[in-house]
Amino acid sequence: MPTESRTFRAPGRVNLIGEHTDYNDGFVMPVAIDLSTWVTVSPLEQRKLQIRSENFDEEIEVDLDDQNLARRGHWSDYPVGVAVMLERDGHRLRGAKLHVRSEVPIGSGLSSSAAIEVATGCALVANSGVKIDARELALLCQKAENEFAGARVGIMDQFVSLFGEEQKALMLDCRSLEFELLPLPDNVRLIICNTMVKHELAASAYNERRAQCEAGVKHLAKFVANVTALRDVTVEQLEQFGRDLPEVVYRRCRHVITENARVLTAARALEQGDLKEFGRLMAESHRSLRDDYEVSSEELDLMVELARKIEGVYGARMTGGGFGGCTVNLVAVEHVAEFSNRVAESYEEVTKLKPEIYICSASNGAEEVPNKTL
Ligand code: GLA
Repeated sequence: MPTESRTFRAPGRVNLIGEHTDYNDGFVMPVAIDLSTWVTVSPLEQRKLQIRSENFDEEIEVDLDDQNLARRGHWSDYPVGVAVMLERDGHRLRGAKLHVRSEVPIGSGLSSSAAIEVATGCALVANSGVKIDARELALLCQKAENEFAGARVGIMDQFVSLFGEEQKALMLDCRSLEFELLPLPDNVRLIICNTMVKHELAASAYNERRAQCEAGVKHLAKFVANVTALRDVTVEQLEQFGRDLPEVVYRRCRHVITENARVLTAARALEQGDLKEFGRLMAESHRSLRDDYEVSSEELDLMVELARKIEGVYGARMTGGGFGGCTVNLVAVEHVAEFSNRVAESYEEVTKLKPEIYICSASNGAEEVPNKTL
């Protein structure tokens, strides 16, 4: 059993394309970014977790043998949820003291929750001498968010936080969990623009979208063989058999089905270095999220419109769940400075909000960081 403290890091993510497709068994193309959550863990004699968050300047303590641990609507739900899911899965954890620091902006759509789940998961597993496959760990972290924290998210965020690689985008098949790492060209940068707005309805609207997709599947499965998710339906089949669906459900399905196709086309464009085509697909994705899926916001639309007017921008779109949060922009290296200044200035002029702009590098997934203690 380890006695010394150890430190782990798990990154946030930005999704290049493939939005609201993960929980439809579809395709996504996220990138792990160079903003991480860090956890230093050291063993405790008793089966307790003492977790301190530097960001919230708070410490909590829970008993690992308490059978009634439940959601509190608190930041600690994520790390505690991971511990609970590991235990439920049969991994006996050793007591631990955890010190958590997040540099992923919290609640901005860059997966600060997946980052804390994965960093905690790695720390608890190492501290307890538990052997677990990284795919299993990703699924348990997702389960913690679904069943403990109460958000019905898909697998994208936890998966890329574990499997991301430097200078690569990760194209994931969310059904089989098979993935391809696609090199990002050197002559572009990923720029994330934070609208600094988060709308209240985000969580309930997310769950509502999921329910609408499920309603679509239920109807389409009556006409098309072997349909268990929207992943299994083509646009032609939707057009042919979706006529009796409520109009809003029809549009939700159309977004997911066309978005899946866009991810596959975008992967080929990236392989061929065709950034113009990649950018065109990002623009289509944004339109579809705005008009068919209705998860964009005025601020996100504005940020995207401003970006498109600037030289050297291949593509711009909202990223993540939506209803505020961030946009992702693919920008030619030589135009990065101009882009950042101009978008920030124009956005502030219209909204009176000062956006945060992050020029990101695609980074490695979760790892132990030697010789570091928080
Ligand atoms: C959130 C969820 C993900 C995914 C995106 C939308 O980030 O955590 O699982 O569904 O929204 O693509």
